[in-house]
Amino acid sequence: MLIQFLTLFPEMFAGPFSCSMIKRAQERGLVTLETINFRDYAEDRHRTVDDTPYGGGPGMILKPEPIFKAVEAQTAKAGSKPYIILTTPQGEPFHQQTAAELSKLPHLLFICGHYEGFDERIRTLADRELSIGDYVLTGGELPAMVMADAVIRLLPGVLGDPQSAEQDSFSRGLLDYPQYTKPAEFRGMAVPAILLSGDHGKIEVWRRQQALLRTARRRPELLADLELSPAEREFLEKHQLTLDPEKKDLPMKGGN
Ligand code: ADE
Repeated sequence: MLIQFLTLFPEMFAGPFSCSMIKRAQERGLVTLETINFRDYAEDRHRTVDDTPYGGGPGMILKPEPIFKAVEAQTAKAGSKPYIILTTPQGEPFHQQTAAELSKLPHLLFICGHYEGFDERIRTLADRELSIGDYVLTGGELPAMVMADAVIRLLPGVLGDPQSAEQDSFSRGLLDYPQYTKPAEFRGMAVPAILLSGDHGKIEVWRRQQALLRTARRRPELLADLELSPAEREFLEKHQLTLDPEKKDLPMKGGN
């Protein structure tokens, strides 16, 4: 997979992409990451990329020409149009499902907005506008890196154990169940006995129940999209957990 980032700040990408799994994924040829400074596509002597807004108002707006030219150059180089993502707080929320969809594509190109905004015509380039949450960052670089990270770890061969991705929080629509490692007791906190029992059938049921409990307590709205078995519904009701997403009334304390 090829992932490109159109940005005015290519240096921001160096750190996150030069360690751990993302570094290894590149070394193993599973993904190629490229940053492109769209200032290189500015048309004037001063390499201008922004200008004042028509109609007045504060701040500077990214101009369309350098970004259009940069996109066209990448399309010509690749021989086909990349799937273009515009990072903006006004975009559709980015979810695990979005990452899974994007991980199937051969060539992604992120346009990282910056400054106070971008010319509306830049939107026409995008196949999809995505946001990483309801808050405003100084630019689209961090969101693009967050999304690329979530996509890259889903590429075949990136995770040592492919089951890891399948068992992620959200991939089954539930938050993760609690995990423990040695020692079996630490500062008075014991690992649940069932995990030491060696009974894998019972462990599987316990984990599913814990994931359900944690999701019902912390993110009840996620359960609305899930098909629960009658036994699972009964289990939650036994714990007096509501399946009504409006009623987020349960405390989060207690490790669940
Ligand atoms: N650019 C600035 N804030 C953003 C956000 N929350 N998501 C995506 N792009 C952004």
